[in-house]
Amino acid sequence: MPISPSAALLPCAELHLHIEGTLEPELIFELADRNGIDLPYADLEELRARYQFTDLQSFLDLYYSNMEVLRTGADFAAMTRAYLRRAAAAGVRHVEMMVDPQAHLLRGVPLEECINGVAGVLATSLEEFGISTVLIAAFLRDRPIAEAEDVLRQLLAMDAPIAAIGLDSAEVGNPPEGFVELYRMASAAGLKCVAHAGEEGPAHYVEQALDLLKADRIDHGIRALDDPALVARLVRDRVPLTVCPLSNVRLRAVDTLADHPLPQMLALGLNVSVNSDDPAYFDGYVDDNFAALQRTFGFSPDQLAELAVNSVESSFASGERRAELL
Ligand code: HPA
Ligand code: ZN
Repeated sequence: MPISPSAALLPCAELHLHIEGTLEPELIFELADRNGIDLPYADLEELRARYQFTDLQSFLDLYYSNMEVLRTGADFAAMTRAYLRRAAAAGVRHVEMMVDPQAHLLRGVPLEECINGVAGVLATSLEEFGISTVLIAAFLRDRPIAEAEDVLRQLLAMDAPIAAIGLDSAEVGNPPEGFVELYRMASAAGLKCVAHAGEEGPAHYVEQALDLLKADRIDHGIRALDDPALVARLVRDRVPLTVCPLSNVRLRAVDTLADHPLPQMLALGLNVSVNSDDPAYFDGYVDDNFAALQRTFGFSPDQLAELAVNSVESSFASGERRAELL
């Protein structure tokens, strides 16, 4: 379906999405029940009351804790299916989805349950939901570097259906430079490379992700604005920045949406797209992000179209699929 800009529903690609961040409170309770897990919350209301974040780490604590309910391939499949259904209603026509296999392995969940549970649903997503998909294995930057390398080796050995790797979790103090070998291995295996950088961390982490990890895309990147020379480079090279406005507000990377630098980034000519990051935790999916932006900034049809076109052009979708979406 070609892109026709409308604030209500903008057909687009979602390039920055953690599938575990789509675990809605209702599904957390359903999976806990199914797996006989005692949650530390009496009910939905008590769980929802925890969704007040002061920074990235305060969110990550809850995100990793809630993952405990994911035990079997069927659990991963249920979560993935629920996201795709909601994303289709949000106008998403292509998604590049991160999964944190290392986080699940650390909890004793075999890689096969996690990867095959997600990938099994992705395999029929285009037919079922009209959404083409790419799976990205993300690695935890606040865990030992050798652990990430070992998990990547295991993923490659099992021929996991991943097209790219990513780098997420607590950013400050865990710069990209430690992960050069991980990214070299991934690239040698023919995988694309993305990395979170400049969410809470400084602009030079963005530079490191480009120079040392050879990242094809930067997740977030808002702190790049602190360095005009870096901005000039990002504009010149059309480096995609997958921006997540509601996430940035909820994790206090910006004070309010009105303070968000997205309009400035567009005006500077940066290649930005709009994404939901962890929609179950941050007040909404891609359509909710667009609606909030629209309310706050009143983007013109041309600006909305630019954001949507950027998302498709910055994706790893085939040329044929991109042509269908543009
Ligand atoms: N930032 C960093 N790591 C993450 C996030 C995020 O928003 N969500 C899941 N892992
Ligand atoms: Zn993210």
